Amino acid sequence: MIEPCTFVIFGATGSLAQLKLLPALYHLESANKLPEGSKVIGFGRRDWSDSQWREEVRRTLAPKVRDGGKAENMDRLLARMHFQQGDLKDAASFGALRDHIYTNTEFPRNIIFYMAIRPAEYGIVTQNLAETNLATEDGGWRRVVIEKPFGYDLESAHMLQTKLQRHLKEEQIYRIDHYLGKGTIQNVLVFRFANVLMEPLWNRNYIDHVQITHSETAGIGGRGEYFDGAGALRDMIQSHLLQVLTLVAMEPPATMDAESLRDEKVKVLKSIRPIPQSAVHAHSFRAQYTSGMINGEKVPSYLEEDETAKNSVTETYAALKLYIDNWRWRDVPFYLRTGKRLAEGKSMVSIRFKHPPQHLFHNTQVDRLKPDWLLLGIQPTECVRMEVQVKQPGLEMRTRSLSLDANFREEDEIPYDAYEGLLLDVIEGDHSLFLRYDEVEWAWRVVDPILRVWSMEREYIHTYPAGTWGPRATQRLFDREDQWWRHSLDPDDED
Ligand code: BG6
Repeated sequence: MIEPCTFVIFGATGSLAQLKLLPALYHLESANKLPEGSKVIGFGRRDWSDSQWREEVRRTLAPKVRDGGKAENMDRLLARMHFQQGDLKDAASFGALRDHIYTNTEFPRNIIFYMAIRPAEYGIVTQNLAETNLATEDGGWRRVVIEKPFGYDLESAHMLQTKLQRHLKEEQIYRIDHYLGKGTIQNVLVFRFANVLMEPLWNRNYIDHVQITHSETAGIGGRGEYFDGAGALRDMIQSHLLQVLTLVAMEPPATMDAESLRDEKVKVLKSIRPIPQSAVHAHSFRAQYTSGMINGEKVPSYLEEDETAKNSVTETYAALKLYIDNWRWRDVPFYLRTGKRLAEGKSMVSIRFKHPPQHLFHNTQVDRLKPDWLLLGIQPTECVRMEVQVKQPGLEMRTRSLSLDANFREEDEIPYDAYEGLLLDVIEGDHSLFLRYDEVEWAWRVVDPILRVWSMEREYIHTYPAGTWGPRATQRLFDREDQWWRHSLDPDDED
């Protein structure tokens, strides 16, 4: 049986809580997944009573949830909700929170602290939790959830870890990478390890290269200050895309428990060939969007966005070529690419197979033989597609690509948001989809050399007009002329 808990949200009125956490709690409530007796405490600076907070949640939640906020679900969730006024930097506020929970028997003593706040505040909040004994597992467990970025390079990640570790055990920390909560990402593992079909081909003998793409048509929205200091490599590749790479490349774990799974992921990260400073340009590419057209509308350049430095060389597009030096993958390039304001918004894994060893159709009118691909659509289309070569109908010997296509979701199966599953995992104490510190550390080791070189090159950055697939010069990352970026799930797409 899952034990009831008290779910404390630091930053309850901020955008993460409003856009992701409260809707996820609502959907879990509607699906009867919240353990009986569980409570939610919003912690924030406003001087709100419980009923003011509940009214606020009712008003803001309704437009964000799938059923528009059905009264019976909403009432059940609101009955669990309380508000605690306080300041994150003030230990006395944490004392008041503790008294509120400890003196009131209706609050379960299993407590989740969700830090929906700025990473710079994680340290002080952890310290305040410790000083008021809230982090001590007294009468129940304590779990702390934190969101990326986990530092901005290896050294700062280490400093953050030192602060957390001072007061928390590793088992108490849940580092969220919301990408791992996406259904299709978990499907990478099921697809690989619940079938025998692909596994014999899943290696350097048959695979030419792997591409992992996350593209967005959106710009940086109101996040100029954060993004200008971070850039696309830190924002998407160090975290989400390297995680996807580990799932595509890992060996089957001994069991599906969290530690076995994470051990295998760390092995992949440790096997990535380090990029020496002299090879940074051969392995990475960065660019920034200029103004352009998105969905028929003119959009400003990155430099014209709010809160970006007017001479900024922060990348809004980043691409990497990585090699994994192990028996399975030696010399198979993995290309990772992400960008804001690109031509389309989508995430996919594209696996290109090698050509057959013998070119039997050499002297016929066969077109240049196209490669086979396996495509895993992550979003918006959740699918698996296998692209193979078949003979075109007709008297001549011509081939064409045929896409064997399967959507992962039936029409009546509702999509859910990554946060719903992840919050439930925290409540159930399942760490499988959360990052262990060594994963964070090794992911920084991969990108740190590139960040260092880029931070020294302040004079120039490639540009691309908003609404395109990025500069053509990014093609230089490929080793051969017959390799290109795969933009689409549909056949016959070449850059
Ligand atoms: C976040 C990044 O972690 O992931 C954003 O900070 C990015 O810049 C987002 O837009 C992408 O995730 P999703 O789930 O919206 O595709």
